[in-house]
Amino acid sequence: MAGVYVMDHPLIRHKIGIIRRKETGSQEFRRIISEISMLMCYEATRGLELSEVEIETPICKTKVQELKGKKMAVVPILRAGLGMVDGMLTMVPAAKVGHIGLYRDPETALPVEYYCKLPRDCAERDVFVVDPMLATGGSAAAAITMLKEKGVKNIRFMCIIAAPEGVQRLSQEHPDVDIYIGALDQCLNDRKYIVPGLGDAGDRIFGTK
Ligand code: PRP
Ligand code: URA
Repeated sequence: MAGVYVMDHPLIRHKIGIIRRKETGSQEFRRIISEISMLMCYEATRGLELSEVEIETPICKTKVQELKGKKMAVVPILRAGLGMVDGMLTMVPAAKVGHIGLYRDPETALPVEYYCKLPRDCAERDVFVVDPMLATGGSAAAAITMLKEKGVKNIRFMCIIAAPEGVQRLSQEHPDVDIYIGALDQCLNDRKYIVPGLGDAGDRIFGTK
């Protein structure tokens, strides 16, 4: 059974406070999304396994720890998930990157798929699906289903802001997936936007509104 982890680090809380402000412009919004992703990556990779290897320093032989086994992949859900990729790669530069294209139909709030391109060996990797917003959970659940259909087994989901409705749906549909959340908000409004949230993450990252 996987877990739901809500970040309690003061730096993450402070930075989320800045991106919630309506006066924060795209440039600052993008930079802070990237910084939060870096900090969350640090927290979300705590469970990665290490193994001991012998090396030689300029002074003597010694044992050091290095990451064991599987390699990582980061899979952003387009568009807004792209904003989290740089931060993840700063922490884990060797990770490969896949892309899943989904958008929420503005009338129905249901996810519509339009793109999927993954690393060839994605099924053998630890995959971190990233998207700043988990609202109804429809997009995240659909993206994870797409990955599972391609044989991916080890999946974690990371978002900056989540609504309880999305967390419940994602945990129900994918109980094997750990969920890492920057801040857990109150609810969804009648247009399925997160309250208090930060508005439309894609528009704020790319300046399209
Ligand atoms: C946003 C967000 C998530 C989705 C969350 O994307 O980035 O992908 O909505 O909502 P859900 O949990 O109800 O599915 P959007 O559909 O606005 O597309 P965009 O990133 O291209 O703007
Ligand atoms: N997508 C967003 O970008 N924001 C929300 O509040 C909900 C879905």
